[in-house]
Amino acid sequence: MTDAAYLLVHEDREYLLEPGEEFGTDLGVIEVPEDVAAGDEVETHLGTVFEVRALRGPDLFNHLERTGAPMMPRDVGLVMGHTGASGGDRVLDAGTGTGILAAYLGRAGADVTSYEVDPEFAEVARANMATAGVADRVEVRTGDLTEELDALAEGEPFDALTLDTGDAPAVVERADELLAPGGRLAVYSPFVEGTREAALAAREAGFSEVETLETIQREMDFSDRGSRPSTAGVGHTGYLVFARAP
Ligand SMILES: C[S@@+](CC[C@H](N)C(=O)[O-])C[C@H]1O[C@@H](n2cnc3c(N)ncnc32)[C@H](O)[C@@H]1O
Repeated sequence: MTDAAYLLVHEDREYLLEPGEEFGTDLGVIEVPEDVAAGDEVETHLGTVFEVRALRGPDLFNHLERTGAPMMPRDVGLVMGHTGASGGDRVLDAGTGTGILAAYLGRAGADVTSYEVDPEFAEVARANMATAGVADRVEVRTGDLTEELDALAEGEPFDALTLDTGDAPAVVERADELLAPGGRLAVYSPFVEGTREAALAAREAGFSEVETLETIQREMDFSDRGSRPSTAGVGHTGYLVFARAP
């Protein structure tokens, strides 16, 4: 992983900027030096000081250019935990979308092949991977994963398969051909219909440990009056199916 971008922070302002980049703000123009490093301070031409910080995973969610709805950090955490994807693993991912999940996987050391059917989204995702410092680990391929299954099934098997597309069940049907024995499958779906289809397809394909989870988080509020879950509503994001390849 390379430090391709940094977070420049002043009070509640923060910008994701690359070495050598010039950026105009209402606090003045920031010129990021080519040799900038985390811990430096950079002054705008009007004299406001920005602190330079290393880029962290959650900053990607907040600052990468968005195309397809990005996976939220809470769901990324579940995918990372349930697939165990880590250094040296080969991961097949689709669709890339903004590339949040792909970037997290790459930053964890996995070698990721990610398919994105929309050519413009794929271009943005490639730039996002460069910003995230994982362009050497995450290969974004323009294409429909469902049309690549024959070719991929003939290649080296993957350790994990992560799917976040409406047609994921069609890929799950053939996921045993893509994964090494014991390899892990993760399917994210915002709707219960697609989730059920993916879980049934995994079972049909001979996968074990097929498990379906709904992601709900309750934020806690701490005030002078007391502590309780936030009244802002139920924090539902989606459903996740996990399974183990035969
Ligand atoms: C919800 S977004 C994925 C977000 C991504 N997981 C992230 O963390 O940023 C879904 C993306 O899948 C793409 N897509 C849908 N079907 C596809 C397919 N069969 N092959 C490749 N990409 C596909 C869409 O164009 C869209 O960009």
